Amino acid sequence: MKMRILVTGGTGFIGSHTVVELLCAGHEAEVLDNLSNSSEEALRRAALLAGRDADGIPFHRADIRDRAVLEQIFSHQRFDAVIHFAGLKAVGESTEKPWEYYDNNITGTLTLLDVMRRHGCKNIIFSSSATVYGDPAEVPITENCPKGSCTNPYGWTKSMLEQILTDMQKADPEWNVVLLRYFNPIGAHPSGRIGENPNGIPNNLMPYITQVAIGKRPELGVFGNDYDTPDGTGVRDYIHVVDLAKGHVSALEALRNGCGLAVYNLGTGRGYSVLEVVHAFEKASGIKVPYAIKPRRSGDIACCYSDPSKAERELGWKAQYGLEEMCRDSWNWQRNNPEGYGEL
Ligand code: NAD
Ligand code: WQD
Repeated sequence: MKMRILVTGGTGFIGSHTVVELLCAGHEAEVLDNLSNSSEEALRRAALLAGRDADGIPFHRADIRDRAVLEQIFSHQRFDAVIHFAGLKAVGESTEKPWEYYDNNITGTLTLLDVMRRHGCKNIIFSSSATVYGDPAEVPITENCPKGSCTNPYGWTKSMLEQILTDMQKADPEWNVVLLRYFNPIGAHPSGRIGENPNGIPNNLMPYITQVAIGKRPELGVFGNDYDTPDGTGVRDYIHVVDLAKGHVSALEALRNGCGLAVYNLGTGRGYSVLEVVHAFEKASGIKVPYAIKPRRSGDIACCYSDPSKAERELGWKAQYGLEEMCRDSWNWQRNNPEGYGEL
């Protein structure tokens, strides 16, 4: 059944891919984003990929902390659910600007939730992160694994927002809340039209690799090769962003079925080391990626990968793409859009 969804942060990396999958699955999407870390061009391209006109997706350039604008949007349109991506996400920056992160992510979400409930929209999918597990006691990580201590304010915003949503749902069972804990999203739409558009020096592994491959940066720094992992470099559960986007479409069903509170890991269940990713990328692109071993990055853990079987059991969702496709599509996007969507 067709649902009308408000997508906050819908011009961003994961949001833009999700908008395409929502429309392709027959849903209607409206997007709200303040463009603090994205470009409206992503939405135009998403619309075209979904067979619409470039301006075929209603867009509100607005901040989730702006109650008046949110009131206006919810007064004019009834939404079946909100998919809430909007938030700041740079781990390092969050340690330098904690207030800005708490204000943007927590005040913003509290404002959004209040306006939603005032308008009787009590269905939400929230972008959470594997970071809420902290340094996991064991891998693979299931949803029953206790949450851990985060190493940075960004992570705490996710952990705290999970708690806030959990408490709100408990107090008012009319709410349906799906917490999706993403592992490490990489890749891009196979068309090469939309992808990740990092601002400045990339913090994450794959965008750094693609910028080395295209000649923007001389070499990759590998943050530590003395971890307790097979080759000593950090192991993560990378997931193709299109698989991740489809996970949101599947989660809408849970909302519709009145799931109450539901938590799912979205990952592949397979961990790869930094060097495995580098070598897979070299194979997929045919380009050598020079790298140098550097000291460990503060706050990093050795190994993190999911047990994604709950999402398969309950949502019928399972990642389809492997590391090869993730590398191929990341490279395809970078090669076709050396400047991303342009400067932000
Ligand atoms: P992104 O930065 O590309 O997208 C986030 C979007 O939110 C951006 O378009 C930004 O402009 C917008 N935004 C930020 N603050 C806003 C505000 N106050 N009002 C309105 N819009 C605002 O990031 P992404 O990688 O697409 O991540 C989407 C969500 O998933 C985020 O909440 C992020 O924390 C979460 N997440 C991301 C990852 C990852 O590795 N990319 C992993 C786990 C969780
Ligand atoms: C992956 C691996 C690095 C860059 C982060 C956030 C997490 C979530 C996803 C939002 C690690 C190594 C990296 C580089 C390297 N984001 N690396 N050289 O740290 O697993 O997760 O993004 O929610 O909250 O913490 O991802 O891509 O930064 O790192 O060697 O230049 O690559 O040490 O082992 P991470 P990442």
